[in-house]
Amino acid sequence: MDTKNFAEKFYEKYGNRKEKPVLFFSPGRVNLIGEHTDYNGGFVFPCALNYGTYLLIRKIKGNTLKFSTINFNDDFETELKGLFLNTGKKWINYPLGVINEFIKKGIKLSGLEFLYYGDVPNGAGLSSSASIEMVTAVAMNEFFNAGFSTLDLVKMSQKAENEFVGMNCGIMDQFAVGFGKKDHAIFLNCDTLFFENVPLILTDCSLIITNTNKRRGLTDSKYNERRSECDKAVELLQLYKPIRNLSELNIGEINILEKYIKDPVIRKRAKHVISENGRVIEAVSVLKKNNIIRFGELMNQSHDSLKDDYEVTGTELDTLVYEGRKLPGVIGTRMTGAGFGGCTISIVRKADSAKFMTSLSTTYQKKTGLVPDFYQPEIGDGARRII
Ligand code: GLA
Repeated sequence: MDTKNFAEKFYEKYGNRKEKPVLFFSPGRVNLIGEHTDYNGGFVFPCALNYGTYLLIRKIKGNTLKFSTINFNDDFETELKGLFLNTGKKWINYPLGVINEFIKKGIKLSGLEFLYYGDVPNGAGLSSSASIEMVTAVAMNEFFNAGFSTLDLVKMSQKAENEFVGMNCGIMDQFAVGFGKKDHAIFLNCDTLFFENVPLILTDCSLIITNTNKRRGLTDSKYNERRSECDKAVELLQLYKPIRNLSELNIGEINILEKYIKDPVIRKRAKHVISENGRVIEAVSVLKKNNIIRFGELMNQSHDSLKDDYEVTGTELDTLVYEGRKLPGVIGTRMTGAGFGGCTISIVRKADSAKFMTSLSTTYQKKTGLVPDFYQPEIGDGARRII
């Protein structure tokens, strides 16, 4: 991001070159393994990207909030006078939901000008929404000396998404975006919120993100459906033992599912969550021993489970993954994020990366008629002030 150019756009929009705005950045995230486990109190292993959302922000006199973005032509202005309601305009609900959380906590706010710019693709499973939420939260925290911790800001952003935007997500995205650390992935227990930054050393391999570019359809409703299926499984398993969430069962207990859950669909959902938790634990342990090959196998198994047991993949993601696995140098490849579209994450030998992208692009286009996008991200730090 060219910061001079960005500042120029800010002045073009809002004038007054005498008062400089402040620049904040918040990353997107990619999840390496541990999918659909966060809202089941399980383990995840995401990392923050060097792609994300930039925010230039400045205080103004009065009580007006002015929002603009470079990404599309959709400005918004409102007055601070009590809690906001969902505007129906998609992107603006993310900052407004966060601002509501500050208001609810009794923080006295005043007029502001916001200019956003995001370079993480929207709705592609890389947490563009958590990124907008957290950049807003970190900036508001500093501007109004609110004194919230990063964990407070993470929880406030998640609440904004759950209650204001209406997407019933778990805590993984906001957490990864808030606590990301350069060249590390985050091994997070979503029940206790205990976490560890694990160095992501991939030796002669690199990460490649591939965007299916499939238009998002029913992601939110299917996501909420999976959540209730898991709740149902927990309810049925009460006869086995009093659990609060599926992650209280370990991999050795998978065989009891047949006895307590008669519905094969609900049983498969529970099986995915329990087996995925086991894979995350093993993946972190093998990564610490530099065993990338085993890490890749676990990524592959994770995708297979998301396809067969959790049923959140679809033709586009499956084409990228199963065609990708046929190519030389591919250590592991799986969908990342909520699924149904969005992106895959692959670990590919550096020497084979270029060939991987050209071959996969050709096959994917032939099979789906869609053109994929590739990203070779660096792993960066969490949400922060830049200048
Ligand atoms: C979305 C949600 C996360 C998580 C993933 C699936 O990204 O926002 O909370 O549930 O899906 O792992």
